[in-house]
Amino acid sequence: MGPEARSVAFIEERARTMARRYNLNEIRIPMMERIELYQRSTGETSDVVAKQMYIVQRSDETAGADAMALRPEGTPGVVRAYIEAGLDRSNPYQRFFYWGPMLRYERPQRGRYRQFSQFGVEIFGRADPDSDAELMIMLEDLRRDLGLSLDFQINSLGCAEPDCRPRFREALLRYGRAHLAELCEDCHQRLERNPLRILDCKIDGERMAASAPKSLDYLCDACRKHFSLVQEFLSEAGVLYTVNPRLVRGLDYYTRTTFEVLSAAVGSQNAVAAGGRYDGLIEALGGAPVPGTGFAIGVDRMALALEASRFESEGAPDIAIIALGERAIRRATTLARELRASDFRVEVLPTERRLRALLAMADRMGAPYAVIIGENELAKGVVQLRDLRASVQREVAVAELAAAIRSRN
Ligand code: HAM
Repeated sequence: MGPEARSVAFIEERARTMARRYNLNEIRIPMMERIELYQRSTGETSDVVAKQMYIVQRSDETAGADAMALRPEGTPGVVRAYIEAGLDRSNPYQRFFYWGPMLRYERPQRGRYRQFSQFGVEIFGRADPDSDAELMIMLEDLRRDLGLSLDFQINSLGCAEPDCRPRFREALLRYGRAHLAELCEDCHQRLERNPLRILDCKIDGERMAASAPKSLDYLCDACRKHFSLVQEFLSEAGVLYTVNPRLVRGLDYYTRTTFEVLSAAVGSQNAVAAGGRYDGLIEALGGAPVPGTGFAIGVDRMALALEASRFESEGAPDIAIIALGERAIRRATTLARELRASDFRVEVLPTERRLRALLAMADRMGAPYAVIIGENELAKGVVQLRDLRASVQREVAVAELAAAIRSRN
């Protein structure tokens, strides 16, 4: 509520403007999907699917087979809709954006919630490095527009098949087996099922990522070239970034470029946006072999990075109307609608109080002007226009009210 809600709305408004300028089209995806969708995309061994997903089923408990997952992220739902609409075959190049709440079981803290909002972008049908860079350039434009100071980090995980990933996986497996005693219990299992996951373990992932083999050292020529072109594009576009070889994403579908955007203002949960390339995902979910890239902004975290104080005064009306007496109330209602039609933000204050209390109320709301209508004013076709900041008041003809207020601003 209040400034916090307004800062979230402001981010949505600016992100929608950015989306329009980049020719992205809105897609509205459902809150729930089949559990298998996330198992096959986000990944069965990811914490998001293995530990954090909310599963819902209908109240008839014999119907467990109909259980669904509440979406923990947007990417799988967008891919599912895209394939279901047949676009992967008929018109594969698509540019989408979406907005809405996601749900994950988390231990809540500043910047980490069980329900949070994402603003996401997914681009399908582009394998070129300029499309990876374009995503970060979008985020850079939004960053400037919002006036934030953010830190861009990028990495490459290489291709899934046939070159980079199998060799990297093998190296991680060897490393993990040699350091078994240092791994948590969960990681013993992760190691055999998906060794990449030991790098984003909440307990000792950071330590592991520091000393374990790095994906950058296992890139094939094509992936190395792709990554260096992404960096060239970013530099040319003036996006400041650092290569972080320890950057591992917690979701399974990434290939090649991955990135995170961090804010020092947010605290320990400092990633305000994250994304990357996922060239195998559409095919893995039953579609044609179409490449994809995307990111999601954590809107609640982005709002923490914005100074909420910027939005303090914005909840105030432009004009508070005070009507004294039965007949004045009717006039006030009509007048308020006329002023609203001229795009003023107007509230008619409750009538059961005294003038002095109502003026105090208008002042508390932060309204710069009060318009007072009593029996005398009605008879003369005028109102009292009170400048609440300067505490001065004068009589104004109703027909001239809008112009009188405008001329003072
Ligand atoms: P993700 O890194 O899981 O990626 O989430 C993206 C962003 O959502 C995070 O950087 C963070 O700002 C925000 N976020 C995540 N969890 C929470 C939480 N519990 N509370 C508050 N904010 C949170 C994805 O979701 C991918 N779908 C991004 C993507 C799109 N990759 C390709 N396309």
